[in-house]
Amino acid sequence: MILKKIAGTFCISFFTLFVQSQPSVALTPPMGWNSWNLFEEEVSDKLIRQIADALVVSGMANAGYQYIVIDDFWVGGRNANNELFPDLARFPNGMKALADYVHAKGLKLGIYSDAASLTCGGVTGSYNFEEHDATTFAKWGIDYLKYDYCNAPDDMVSAFTRYKKMGDALHKTNRAIVYSICEWGQREPWLWARAAGGNLWRTTWDMRDTWQSDKYDNGHNGILNTIEKQKGLEKYAGPGGFNDPDLLVTGLFGKGKSSSLNGRFNGCSLTEYRTQFAIWCMLASPLMVNLDVRNMDTAVKAILLNKELIAIDQDALGNQAAAMVDANGWLVYKKELSGDRFAICILNRSNATAAYSFNLETALKIYGQWTAREIFSNRQLRASKAVTGELAAHDCAIFMLSKAGTKK
Ligand code: GLA
Repeated sequence: MILKKIAGTFCISFFTLFVQSQPSVALTPPMGWNSWNLFEEEVSDKLIRQIADALVVSGMANAGYQYIVIDDFWVGGRNANNELFPDLARFPNGMKALADYVHAKGLKLGIYSDAASLTCGGVTGSYNFEEHDATTFAKWGIDYLKYDYCNAPDDMVSAFTRYKKMGDALHKTNRAIVYSICEWGQREPWLWARAAGGNLWRTTWDMRDTWQSDKYDNGHNGILNTIEKQKGLEKYAGPGGFNDPDLLVTGLFGKGKSSSLNGRFNGCSLTEYRTQFAIWCMLASPLMVNLDVRNMDTAVKAILLNKELIAIDQDALGNQAAAMVDANGWLVYKKELSGDRFAICILNRSNATAAYSFNLETALKIYGQWTAREIFSNRQLRASKAVTGELAAHDCAIFMLSKAGTKK
């Protein structure tokens, strides 16, 4: 344990030497839509255009869902000039035309590659062609790169070196490109990802469409497994660099290919989906939805468009909530917000309805006089020394605390 701490401190100081200039992107966690779970190898120009249209029509774009990220399987190969080109059957117009379409809708376009010769899906990756590919992406008008780590060496130094190479190449293009590091939290990327130029870094394996799986270590983690793995990482999050607990399964209802493990997981309840969304907002996580935005369930849409939750996620301070209570089925988070406010989240991890009462001073270390409002029920607690209530299994409550005497 102590050795691990010393190694961690050493890594931070070592990697801090490489930190690049002030970030100009991802000052708050990126929000958008990613193609992976819905389309996998069927992703195409036609589908991406439909998604762009739907993001605008549904109000998602206005709410902040800005980045459309094309995940694995878009690559056709590398041409004689060593330039990447897309699969021409699915992207017949080329990527520049697609980026132009997406930009004309007021949205931004993201793309995917891998720090090895082949991606996780087995198509061409960027290793040894970092500058070439970064230049190509910038030329196309790409605004976001998700950079995966399949088929690459296991150790941390190789990962840092490979990620930094692409980070430097992106930096050199002078285009504002969000850099998403995806090595699944296996080499403690929170210690070095910023120094490699990263704006977000995956902390865990791929998210599956289930509340809880008993097989976390095989990469089959559900919402609760993932939540448990984020504890203690709050000190690494802030403007320009965020922990990434992976995609939102909210609203997939077992329809994602990878998130359902081809039918093995058949989805979550609406309560569980709302909990995932709320906790991701508390954790200042990237909000990347995966569902079919062309055809959204009204209740799911209400969750994803909840303005107060989005504002908690996008708060200018960029704080990730810390778990203040972790006992008896309860997980209680505190997040300090701008404007002298706090958001408190109470999660009932147990499988039964239960009553709670958490003292602001002793349990949450919040002192002074506060007014609290629970956002899902609009319940006001005035001059209360505690947050109290009752929650169904896997449900959560979110209290907004403002200094007593202020209007909010
Ligand atoms: C990995 C990543 C996923 C997705 C797939 C694509 O598993 O973790 O998010 O990008 O690769 O093949």
